[in-house]
Amino acid sequence: MIIKNICLNNFRNLKQIYIEPHQNMNILCGENAQGKTNLIEAIWLFTGAKSFRNSKENEMISFDCKKTEIEINFISEGIEKTAKIIIDDKKNLFLNDKKIKCASEFAGNFNAIVFSPTDLSLIIDGPAIRRRFLDVAIGQLYPRYIEILKNYNRAVMQRNNILKDCYKDASLKFLLDDYEEVIINCGEKIINYRKKYIEQIKKTAPKIYEGISQKKEILDIEYICSSDGKGLREKLKLLRNEDIYKGVTSVGPHRDDIVFKINSINCRDFGSQGQKRSVALALKLSEAEIIKEITGEQPIALLDDVMSELDKSRQDYILNHIDGWQVFITCCETGHFENLNEGKIFTVKNGEIF
Ligand SMILES: Nc1ncnc2c1ncn2[C@@H]1O[C@H](COP(=O)(O)OP(=O)(O)OP(=O)(O)O)[C@@H](O)[C@H]1O
Ligand SMILES: [Mg+2]
Repeated sequence: MIIKNICLNNFRNLKQIYIEPHQNMNILCGENAQGKTNLIEAIWLFTGAKSFRNSKENEMISFDCKKTEIEINFISEGIEKTAKIIIDDKKNLFLNDKKIKCASEFAGNFNAIVFSPTDLSLIIDGPAIRRRFLDVAIGQLYPRYIEILKNYNRAVMQRNNILKDCYKDASLKFLLDDYEEVIINCGEKIINYRKKYIEQIKKTAPKIYEGISQKKEILDIEYICSSDGKGLREKLKLLRNEDIYKGVTSVGPHRDDIVFKINSINCRDFGSQGQKRSVALALKLSEAEIIKEITGEQPIALLDDVMSELDKSRQDYILNHIDGWQVFITCCETGHFENLNEGKIFTVKNGEIF
């Protein structure tokens, strides 16, 4: 996967940008608050996922404007393709100038991984962010998954509403049946997708982590499934009364988690800052390997401000690892890349890139 050119209009502080990136290394260099992460964010949107900054769509339009337009030309499967996103009061998506309905259609066409300092939260924050990592990664590979997830989440929300009604009036319990069927049906599919994905991560991430830690540590990853043992159907029925009392659905993939262990010790509770950062890095690089294995295309790597966070040996590891991919790296100084023999260095200054 290679981006040939990027054209942005009124995307955050980037007013009018046209760049032709190098097929391998692209360094985006500039002082703080100049627009580096904004460019990374714009590229990321073409994966079909939401912004990794969790911001609302209209927040991406330049402050004094009503509309933003972003477009890339890229090569995938040997074919040149165009993808365009226009955000005004709604989001309009185009693939090869044809309007498409949902972002998941981008997913099968354009793949990227993004790594930013906030990824540390993947390890240290609560389970929701780890589930989101899985959902975004799987959704990029299997757009169908996004639909299943949507139906599942809707059914859980509806069940929760009815649970609250049942608390007041027990005769309404029969209303739960239909939603529980959707939860079981979609939930089991989601768990299957996730478990399969974790199996793939288990094949790649520990090897990468071994490289990052210079063979000093062993990484182990496990999917913690809230319905394991009895199964989703039985647990859901078993917990019905308890759920009515609590007013929430307490079992299902929306309650699952991933545990990372280093040398058999839980990284979230006991890992050092550097170990946590390295686990997050290993996860993202393994995400790229899985995309490559399944689609046959090397995804684009978007690395936002990662160099400043890593020690020299880890920096070298990552630069070697991504050698040959198309990469966009942001940084405040070009010092890390003095030995760069192939690639382009772009300067980002006050919303302009040259
Ligand atoms: N909708 C918007 N319209 C105009 N400007 C915006 C909008 N959203 C964000 N900005 C501004 O864009 C500027 C650049 O942000 P960006 O995150 O890309 O900086 P950066 O170059 O990555 O800086 P750092 O090195 O600190 O990470 C910020 O000053 C921010 O306030
Ligand atoms: Mg930034």
